[in-house]
Amino acid sequence: MTTQRLGIDSPEEFRRAVEAAVALLRQGQVVALPTETVYGLAANARDPGAVRRVYEVKRRPHSNPLIVHVASREMARACVSNWPETAERLARAFWPGPLTLVLPKADSIPPEVTGGGDTVAIRWPAHPFIQAVIRACGFPLAAPSANLANRVSPTSADHVLAQLNGRIPLVVDGGPCAVGIESTVVDLAHEPPRILRPGMIHAEALAPLVPRLAEEPCAPLSARRPKSPGLFPKHYAPTAPVRVLTWTGTEDLRRQLRNLGADPAQAHVLAHTTVPQKGPFADVWVLPRDPAAYARALYATWHRCDQQGARLIIMEAVPEQSEWAGIADRLRRAEGLEGSSP
Ligand code: TXA
Ligand code: MG
Repeated sequence: MTTQRLGIDSPEEFRRAVEAAVALLRQGQVVALPTETVYGLAANARDPGAVRRVYEVKRRPHSNPLIVHVASREMARACVSNWPETAERLARAFWPGPLTLVLPKADSIPPEVTGGGDTVAIRWPAHPFIQAVIRACGFPLAAPSANLANRVSPTSADHVLAQLNGRIPLVVDGGPCAVGIESTVVDLAHEPPRILRPGMIHAEALAPLVPRLAEEPCAPLSARRPKSPGLFPKHYAPTAPVRVLTWTGTEDLRRQLRNLGADPAQAHVLAHTTVPQKGPFADVWVLPRDPAAYARALYATWHRCDQQGARLIIMEAVPEQSEWAGIADRLRRAEGLEGSSP
């Protein structure tokens, strides 16, 4: 299969890309589309065969459920069997946007989407292209991130093609994603409501609208069936091993790497405050100091490290404030330290 790539830079291109995507989706095919968080691998959420194809293309375990993307609150309500007051408040405050709500599923959502479970994750994305596609289709789109399972999510059409070229008929190129990490996932189907996956809509922003919001998943992962398989460590990880460290300068970092038994000359260092000199290291990348800009840049930098065949990635630890919680979570998962991100 050859993968067609369509841009959306002019109104004419946008219209043609919507038509092409809608035609394929109606046939039960899967296509990669831009959203404001990361690129999604979309299929008709009401078509079990199309949804199964998403799992095949991604090589994703069937137990890990998909997010259903809608283009209105009415469409969201049609996907769930209960729409509590908290969902209405969050939807009004943050949709369209990078927030996913987990609710009891409606019968119209096949078990293929939900990993056999009785809840469904719903999001109204902010990107105008996917909104236009959903409206034209008239059905919601099940869409995980458009990467192979356990790899870094794509934030550009090039990232999608690097992993899925030849496996899907179409990728629509909407440029780099504006948010850059995956949506915040909040479970409203169980008490107390819980953040299952932190993101750029953070606990401090959610708490005033969600009574009794719990920030941490309840029990250690090993002790129960995970509510959200995305909570497993070593998701969202680049190919090279990742370590998160803090340092006072170039010499201090070089010494720490030696003490860890690592060769500084193999380390790609990603820093945003204390930027070391390149000298002893394979490469040094500077990330933005502002959390929103950092999130936008993070995955592209990891993808570049992968392309360059990095052997070790050293990340400078990020602040502990709420604004950084989604980023800190992705760094911990990339590090893959068991128990660090239950
Ligand atoms: O920003 C995003 O959310 C992107 C774009 C494409 O919208 N999508 C995305 O999808 O990141 P995915 O499949 O890579 O991650 C979905 C996460 C997983 O951690 C999954 O376990 C969780 O949402 N999830 C989906 N359905 C769930 C459910 N019913 N209950 C609990 N967690 C669920
Ligand atoms: Mg994913």
